[in-house]
Amino acid sequence: MTTTEPKYDHLVTKKQVIVTCGTGGVGKTTIAASTAIAAAKAGRRAVVITIDPAKRLADTLGIDQLGNTPTIIEGPWPGTLGAMMLNSKATFDHVVEQHATTQDQLEQILNNRFYINVSSELPGTQDYMATEKLYQLHTCGQWDLVVVDTPPTRDALAFLEAPKVLTRLLNNTIYKMLVSPRPLVLRTVSRAAGLVVRRLSRVVGAEVVDDAIEFFQTFQGMEEGFKQRSAAALTLLTSEDSAFVLVASPRSDTIAEARYFLSRLDEASLTVAGVVVNRVLAALSASAADAADISRHLQDTPLAAAAQALTDHVKAAAGDDNRIEQLMVYAPNATLIKIPLMATDVHDLTKLSHLAELLTSNSPEETTDT
Ligand SMILES: Nc1ncnc2c1ncn2[C@@H]1O[C@H](COP(=O)(O)OP(=O)(O)O)[C@@H](O)[C@H]1O
Ligand SMILES: [Mg+2]
Repeated sequence: MTTTEPKYDHLVTKKQVIVTCGTGGVGKTTIAASTAIAAAKAGRRAVVITIDPAKRLADTLGIDQLGNTPTIIEGPWPGTLGAMMLNSKATFDHVVEQHATTQDQLEQILNNRFYINVSSELPGTQDYMATEKLYQLHTCGQWDLVVVDTPPTRDALAFLEAPKVLTRLLNNTIYKMLVSPRPLVLRTVSRAAGLVVRRLSRVVGAEVVDDAIEFFQTFQGMEEGFKQRSAAALTLLTSEDSAFVLVASPRSDTIAEARYFLSRLDEASLTVAGVVVNRVLAALSASAADAADISRHLQDTPLAAAAQALTDHVKAAAGDDNRIEQLMVYAPNATLIKIPLMATDVHDLTKLSHLAELLTSNSPEETTDT
């Protein structure tokens, strides 16, 4: 069987950035961690940036909320494995530090209440800081591959859009007006902009608006650096060096979400290199006809319930297959990897390592009969 499809091990050995996306709860963080392990097994220096990992996974990976730099995880692999949990606020502070022109400017921004809110609470900030962190790790020279687990969101593009939001804001007329010295603002403020400020003040309170104005005034001079960095991160993410992996489960609601993700990525001309369908029911050697046969034979015997369970499983597995096939219509060029539903959660290194093996050995091209 010849194919030009990029197999998962190709992604793991050749790409410099892998972004796992998908709705929450499907196993995105687990797949991101296993992907980095697969790369370490292939001898690469791989680091995974996780977002909100389950407590036990965070413990396994030796990461906690406080650290904002990778921890090295020792294991039986020739490469290097690093893991970290994204801390948006610390990452944002670091970017501000890098771009601030004076110590005064730096301190004023870090202590500004508007900045404190934006850097820690705004939903888009986590997306934006994930791209920032990924760009830092990519350019620092210590890693061959950066795997990024994206924040849970309904929109696949939120992650790519976040840096653009800032650029758009910085180019906005109202923003420009707000940052001009106050007396001038009062004189030249356009009626529309004045209305916006007054409305905002009524809704969020005048102090909040004052904090914001003070922040943007202090921020002046740093815009260029921020814009350039966002643009560079975006260029990296849309280049050949980066790959998007969609994680989904075979349940019909998550398949529908996954389809939406794929259509959004397609609209942005981004291709998905891999689709990982996680928690697939184990395939049994029994066909639907076999199961029905067995059920008939065992009818009215003490084994009737077991036979029924077999029939149900075969039916559910066929349903999974059907839905996965429908999903792949939307990603015809992506490698499909099916990861079985494990008996227990995947929280220790042995299980993650097993998952890494499954990811790289489970490409459909390799399962042809010999
Ligand atoms: N194939 C699997 N079989 C069994 N449990 C799994 C599997 N994949 C993930 N899990 C478990 O499901 C839970 C959610 O996984 P996680 O990776 O945190 O999801 P997400 O990041 O998408 O919210 C975790 O407890 C994880 O150990
Ligand atoms: Mg997660």
